[in-house]
Amino acid sequence: MESVNNIALEFNEFSKNYTNDMIGCVPHYKELISSFIKYLPDNFSPISILDLGCGNGNITSQLISHFPNATYTMVDASSEMIELCRKQFKSHNVIYSNMYFNDFIFKPESYDLIVAGFSLHHCDYKEKRSIFKAIYSSLKIGGMFSYSDLMINKTNPDHPVLLDEWHHFVNSNFPDGEKWAWVMEHYKAFDKPTDYLDQIECLRNVGFTNIQIPFKEGYWVYLQAVKS
Ligand SMILES: C[S@@+](CC[C@H](N)C(=O)[O-])C[C@H]1O[C@@H](n2cnc3c(N)ncnc32)[C@H](O)[C@@H]1O
Repeated sequence: MESVNNIALEFNEFSKNYTNDMIGCVPHYKELISSFIKYLPDNFSPISILDLGCGNGNITSQLISHFPNATYTMVDASSEMIELCRKQFKSHNVIYSNMYFNDFIFKPESYDLIVAGFSLHHCDYKEKRSIFKAIYSSLKIGGMFSYSDLMINKTNPDHPVLLDEWHHFVNSNFPDGEKWAWVMEHYKAFDKPTDYLDQIECLRNVGFTNIQIPFKEGYWVYLQAVKS
C-alpha cells in the first residue's frame, strides 16, 4: 500500500483492509477501541454522540450496541470510510459529514459524548488546540470527550525506543517488512502526535477540569475529559 498525497485519498486507500491493518500495525488497537465502552461511567447514557474521524466505524459500532437509540454524527474526510459507515449503520439514526474537521460546524452545547479514535494525531498542536476548544463548546454540561491515540512528540527522547518497539510489533505480524515501510511512510507524511501531558494541559486551558487516563500502554493512550 502506497501513501497518497492527502488524508482523504490516503484513507480511501487504507479503507480496503482497514481493521485488519490497524490490528496488525497499531499496538493495543483492540484494547484502545474497547476502552470507549469499558471505561464509561455506569450511569452515563449519552443520547447525542459525535465521532470525529470515524473511519470505517469501529468506535461507533461499539457505542451503537450499547446506546442503540442515540443520535450519531460521524465526521470523516474520506468518502470511502463514510460509505462503509453508511452500509454498516443503515438502520440507525446517523448523520454523516464527509469533510475535514476544519470545515465541520461544531454546534454549541449539542453532544453528550464526543469520541475520536486515532484521528487527532493527524492534526498538529495548534489544530488540536482549536479542535479541543470547539469540542468543549460543543459538549453539553456533564458531557464527555473521550479519545484514543498515540500521544508522544516526535522530539520526545523516548521516541526512538517507541519506534523500535513499534517496528518489532508490526514485523511480528507482517514479517516481510513492507507493511512497516508503509507505516513509516504514512507516519512521516501525515502523523503529528503530541505528548499526552501537553494534551492534558491544552484540555485544561480550554476549560476541561476532570481529565483521566483510564488506559495507557507506553504512549498508546485512551483519555477522557468531562465538561463540568
Ligand atoms: C486511523 S483512522 C481512525 C478510524 C477510527 N476512528 C478508528 O479508531 O479505527 C483516522 C480517520 O480519521 C480521518 N481523518 C484524519 N484527519 C482528519 C481531518 N483533519 N478531518 C477529517 N477526518 C480526518 C481519516 O480519514 C481516517 O478515516
